[in-house]
Amino acid sequence: MSGKTSNDRRVLLIVGGGVAAYKALPLIRLLRKAGVGVRPILTKAGAEFVTPLSLAALAEDKVYQELFSLTDEHEMGHIELSRSADLIVVVPATADLIAKAANGLAGDLASTTLLATDKPVLMAPAMNVRMWLHPATQRNIATLKADGVAFVGPDDGAMACGEFGPGRLAEPEEIFAAIIALLEGPAARPLTGKRALVTAGPTFEPIDPVRGITNRSSGKQGFAIAEALAKLGAEVTLVAGPVALPTPAGVKRVDVETARQMLAASQAALPADVGVFVAAVADWRVDEAFGTKLKKEKGGPPALTFVENPDILATLSATGPNRPKLVIGFAAETDHVEDHARAKLARKGCDWIIANDVTEPGVMGGGENAVLLVTKDSVERWDRAAKDQVAARIAQRIAAALA
Ligand code: CTP
Repeated sequence: MSGKTSNDRRVLLIVGGGVAAYKALPLIRLLRKAGVGVRPILTKAGAEFVTPLSLAALAEDKVYQELFSLTDEHEMGHIELSRSADLIVVVPATADLIAKAANGLAGDLASTTLLATDKPVLMAPAMNVRMWLHPATQRNIATLKADGVAFVGPDDGAMACGEFGPGRLAEPEEIFAAIIALLEGPAARPLTGKRALVTAGPTFEPIDPVRGITNRSSGKQGFAIAEALAKLGAEVTLVAGPVALPTPAGVKRVDVETARQMLAASQAALPADVGVFVAAVADWRVDEAFGTKLKKEKGGPPALTFVENPDILATLSATGPNRPKLVIGFAAETDHVEDHARAKLARKGCDWIIANDVTEPGVMGGGENAVLLVTKDSVERWDRAAKDQVAARIAQRIAAALA
């Protein structure tokens, strides 16, 4: 599937009958926003949960429902329909649809389309836990996987039927990411098979159970890098300090508070091909945090003794055989940016430093970044850009370095 971008791609979206069918609507919105065409097929059961009108309105295309509709057959036969897209996506893929597809049944438009197509197929299953775990369903899934069908989800969690476990439809963002990955093909995913570790956000170092020391890092740049690496196919672990940001699609997130927890979670994520240390780790912590809340009446302000936190970047740069092949540090500087970045590169033992001038308005906590990429023998100055564009560029450079 080379040559085209998401902008001239089309997805044939089969909407099956399940409570999760409503999630097809935000998925269509995401696809349309990314410039992907969506042509919906709605099964009879699916129409019990979402209306053809809402699908048509969001997809801006006709909704196909009947196998033997004369008009539809006149305009476009079902064979042609099944081949009119770059990818067929089934959301939600019910136990019934999965069983039909696995056995080559073709009693309605959806199953006929799945049998008649020569295009790749992605299924996002959703069903009751017991139905998912039933040997018949698992047998059908294995058959479809052997036939080359791709799957996204199901997730674990509480279900509409009141049970808990695997069977929940993957989130629309996750299905969207899987669709884009399939549409763009392996060339767009040069980090497939590579493992990445990213630290992001501030740390929070407690003083007592209600107070602590932290900083203004928003985590945006680190989260954007984790997302950009995942988009290129990497298996990403994102070790995040306390931030209010959603987890990027396809990224494994480990939430931590303190520098010591961040170090432990980072070490647990090894081995990795690349480590990107974006977190604004607090350099110091209170030696012994108080076990109970400090009270004013107990006399004047408390005398706090500080000790140095572990340096996560320096520690992981020096982990011997377990060291990521490429270790990247960040530097937040207010002056002599290049000199400080060079010194930091040597001091921390990393391969690259990405330095930014935090006196620039809108960098700390904002949406943009202007960076210097400093390696052992080169310096590049990148124009100011949105943090996700900077992230995409960093991810591309990582891919080139690991190729
Ligand atoms: N870093 C880290 N662990 C720490 C401190 C910093 O992993 N305890 C990492 C940051 O994630 C970043 C890099 O080291 O990638 C640089 O952090 P910075 O705070 O700018 O540097 P410092 O070593 O603290 O130096 P200084 O405060 O003197 O600028």
